[in-house]
Amino acid sequence: MQIQFLDASASPAARLVARLVNQDAVPADLEPMLAEAAKIARFSGKSGQTFEGFVERNGKVVRVALAGIGASDAQDRMAAIEKAGAALVAKYLTSGETTLTFDLTGAGLSAEEAAGALLGAELRSWRHDAYRTKLTDDKKPSLREIFVMGAPEGTTKQWGSAQAVAAGVALTRELVTEPANAIYPETFVARCRERMEGTGLNIRVLDETEMAALGMGSLLGVARGSARPPRLLVLEWNGGAKGTKPVAFVGKGVTFDTGGISLKPPAGMEDMKWDMGGAGAVAGAMLTLALRKAKANVVGLCGLVENMPDGDAQRPGDVVTSLSGQTIEVINTDAEGRLVLCDVLTWVQREYAPVKIVDLATLTGAIIASLAHEYAGMFSNNDDLAASLAAAGEATGDRLWRFPMGPVYDKQLESAIADMKNVGSRFGGSITAAQFLKRFIENDTPWAHLDIAGTVWADKPGATWDKGATGFGVRLLDRFVRDTLES
Ligand code: BES
Ligand code: MN
Ligand code: ZN
Repeated sequence: MQIQFLDASASPAARLVARLVNQDAVPADLEPMLAEAAKIARFSGKSGQTFEGFVERNGKVVRVALAGIGASDAQDRMAAIEKAGAALVAKYLTSGETTLTFDLTGAGLSAEEAAGALLGAELRSWRHDAYRTKLTDDKKPSLREIFVMGAPEGTTKQWGSAQAVAAGVALTRELVTEPANAIYPETFVARCRERMEGTGLNIRVLDETEMAALGMGSLLGVARGSARPPRLLVLEWNGGAKGTKPVAFVGKGVTFDTGGISLKPPAGMEDMKWDMGGAGAVAGAMLTLALRKAKANVVGLCGLVENMPDGDAQRPGDVVTSLSGQTIEVINTDAEGRLVLCDVLTWVQREYAPVKIVDLATLTGAIIASLAHEYAGMFSNNDDLAASLAAAGEATGDRLWRFPMGPVYDKQLESAIADMKNVGSRFGGSITAAQFLKRFIENDTPWAHLDIAGTVWADKPGATWDKGATGFGVRLLDRFVRDTLES
């Protein structure tokens, strides 16, 4: 979407004008007919409400859209504003209208809030139509341009960083949406290179020979069954003080998860194209940080493999040696995410000595049983880190709910033949998965594991997304960096 700011004097011959309306404060400068019509339709400016009416201005028909943003002192004010911007775009994206004039005059928004409305609009305009060759004209997106009038001072600057957020979310959604015959480890890397060119991100890639030489037996065990070779993608952003150790973000990038020899049932297996949602979020967040030139040192890692059954695939009962030296009995080849992450976790600690580590992974179906699609699960060895992540989650809508950890859960991972097995009992599956990862965190480095299996993909439209990839994690990580490393 093109967003253009108009100065106060410019008054375009707009056909479609949108206003944001505070609760019980329908603008006084609206045509009486329109105000009356809104009232009849029970539009009062509540968050989530929209209204549309037609009026005559200067002899022309003008379409006026109102979107409610609720009470100005509401706790979720920002979310309500983003949602209103998004609702307007959802309403007119394929309406035939090509431009929308956003008249923010009199809405009483701060610059940050005004940018929030635009962010909501931009996020909601994202679509992936690359594979639709038969879209009829009336189904194609028509809205291309938003003119903004009456924006408070400082909005353009706020919009600059909001735009970086939107671009990061868009990359994540693209990677998550693409099918597994398009995005596999090598093409995930290629797509990131393409999208990140010129941003100042430093890109490193480890191939399977290098990973084998290092001794990443756990990650490579998962990759064995696939014809697609694995990759470890490393994205470095050094916008902070020279020599300061980075924060590390680590993403599970299983580009397709069949379960391997512990094969998944067919129903719904297509969903496993988005088993790289953690890696997608890391890539998107790193792009955002670079685009807004974050004053922080951050390294993002994507462990990229495909989990397939094959004559050469690893078997249940196989024992692999991880990069840490710890041995793992692979009881279930479908518990592959942790096998990928553990080697990446060890490597990043040795290579970068990060001050904090946050991993994101579509790790367990059990987290969906616990939290449905509203919260991602959080597991951490550090209360401060957990608290700042939870706060970033509340602020951005990428919500997190912390789970317990402890030795009683860890016990479930004891193996009769190796240092550990890769699954626990039938119960508490998300927690035992986290306990497994914790065994690879050295020296009590502050670490948090986010199980995002329930929040990467949506079966119905949400506040700022259509059904499909949500882009979960990008806003969370961006906000976390802003609040803990840059202020
Ligand atoms: N990628 C899946 C988890 C998943 C399930 C993500 C549904 C999104 C939606 C993961 O690799 C997996 O298969 N986990 C197993 C673990 C089990 C074998 C201990 C699961 O959740 O069933
Ligand atoms: Mn699996
Ligand atoms: Zn998986």
